[in-house]
Amino acid sequence: MHSCCARKIIVWSLCLIFYLSHSILVCGSSPPKHLCRQDQRDALWEFKSEFPLSGMAADEKTQTWRNNSDCCSWDGITCDPKTGNVAELNLWGSSLNGSLRSSSGLFKLQYLHSLNLGSNNLAGILPDFIGDLKYLRVLRLSGCNLFGKLPSSLGNLSDLTVLELDGNGFTGELPVSLGNLKQLTKLLVASSKLSGNFHHALLNLTELTAINLVSNQLEGTLPSNMSSLSKLEYFDIGSNLFSGFVPSSLFMIPSLIHLKLERNHFNSLLEIGNFSSPSKLQTLSLGGNRLSGPIRIYIKTSRSLVSRPLFWDTLRDEVDFSTFLHLKSLTFLDISTLNTRSIVDMSLFSHFESLSLLSLSRNTVKFSSTLHLVSPIGSLALASCNISEFPKFLRTQTSLFNLDISQNQIKGKYQRGYGVSQD
Ligand SMILES: *[C@@H]1O[C@H](CO)[C@@H](O)[C@H](O)[C@H]1NC(C)=O
Ligand SMILES: *[C@@H]1O[C@H](CO)[C@@H](O)[C@H](O)[C@H]1NC(C)=O
Ligand SMILES: *[C@@H]1O[C@H](CO)[C@@H](O)[C@H](O)[C@H]1NC(C)=O
Ligand SMILES: *[C@@H]1O[C@H](CO)[C@@H](O)[C@H](O)[C@H]1NC(C)=O
Ligand SMILES: *[C@@H]1O[C@H](CO)[C@@H](O)[C@H](O)[C@H]1NC(C)=O
Ligand SMILES: *[C@@H]1O[C@H](CO)[C@@H](O)[C@H](O)[C@H]1NC(C)=O
Ligand SMILES: *[C@@H]1O[C@H](CO)[C@@H](O)[C@H](O)[C@H]1NC(C)=O
Repeated sequence: MHSCCARKIIVWSLCLIFYLSHSILVCGSSPPKHLCRQDQRDALWEFKSEFPLSGMAADEKTQTWRNNSDCCSWDGITCDPKTGNVAELNLWGSSLNGSLRSSSGLFKLQYLHSLNLGSNNLAGILPDFIGDLKYLRVLRLSGCNLFGKLPSSLGNLSDLTVLELDGNGFTGELPVSLGNLKQLTKLLVASSKLSGNFHHALLNLTELTAINLVSNQLEGTLPSNMSSLSKLEYFDIGSNLFSGFVPSSLFMIPSLIHLKLERNHFNSLLEIGNFSSPSKLQTLSLGGNRLSGPIRIYIKTSRSLVSRPLFWDTLRDEVDFSTFLHLKSLTFLDISTLNTRSIVDMSLFSHFESLSLLSLSRNTVKFSSTLHLVSPIGSLALASCNISEFPKFLRTQTSLFNLDISQNQIKGKYQRGYGVSQD
């Protein structure tokens, strides 16, 4: 080996050693790099300080937050890796106890995409400032003991796709401004004390796949043309005070899987118009209304555009339920208390294969002694159906966990294994 080359190697090695030691020195002397931005950390810390720790609950996520660590690594926080802004705050079930103030540090987290404070005790109102979190796509505040009116500033959250506010005590009307939330796919405000109507503004929300407003005090009539909600899969407005017509346009929404209208005051004749066929409907719940006959049922098959009107004529003995035969996917059917004089012939249900709940209570029901239902029914309600013979078809129903055959005229003596014997 030439000495000049050896010298070169030594020089290069020295350079390398110097470079390495220098970088180690530099690394060693600089503070640990935090992704979190200072203002975001301050806002989080401020928010945390608004809720006194009870010190009891093991699920208090904010209890693990440390002032001197990267806030992006704190429990329940996700940051935008590019900017260091807090993008997600998920403190679901974290024993937060106290109300959301208008001045809350929360509203300084202005880059939030997703906020979940569900299952906490936020006993108080939802401040208008919620509308300042203008990048929110997901807002979940279920089971928070919130009350008062829903702020109309919610309508400013134009990127919102999920609004989940179930299980609070909200009063007043759904803000008309919600009609601006063009991206909304889920509107879930079940189990509150909302009043007022189903506003036409909601028909603007054409991306909606789920509307759940069950158990409120909403009233008035539904809009007659609801076909703009063309992606709807789940519609539950049960246990409210809606009256008038059940819009036949609802049945024509081809994506609809669950339709729950039970326990309202719908009191007109039922017009189930132009079912899309094949229908995806699995749940049809109409029980506990004040519907009056005759019930008009139309079917539009995919083959022909001509619809076949079928009349559910309460003045005759027979009910023509044949329209239900097109609902092959039906698993949950509640047509209790139809308030008609018609007789429901149960042989109809021998055509279904996947019924798991069937409620026919408070209608007059008939069935033959050879009736066989292939569906593995779990819950069957036949209360007040003027049944005088024990339903023998129950003997092959091995999945039943809930059976109501009260208030009938079934006679016979109790027999072990089978309930009532006719002999
Ligand atoms: C946490 O940091 C903030 C400033 O970022 C400071 O005002 C506050 O006193 C600190 N709290 C604790 C408990 O260290
Ligand atoms: C929540 O706070 C209220 C008063 O602010 C108090 O009475 C209550 O005991 C607290 N609940 C829990 C679970 O700490
Ligand atoms: C929505 O935002 C606009 C402009 O940012 C503001 O003027 C308006 O007051 C907001 N609306 C509500 C209901 O807060
Ligand atoms: C519904 O949408 C239309 C067109 O986008 C708009 O002009 C109208 O103001 C909206 N209505 C409501 C109540 O949001
Ligand atoms: C129902 O509304 C849709 C748009 O939302 C419209 O295209 C259709 O013509 C309306 N149907 C009737 C019968 O008014
Ligand atoms: C069903 O469609 C037919 C035309 O195809 C129409 O005449 C009828 O009014 C529609 N029925 C309902 C209830 O919308
Ligand atoms: C109830 O059933 C009996 C016979 O089982 C029948 O005579 C009577 O008319 C029925 N009542 C009604 C309201 O259908």
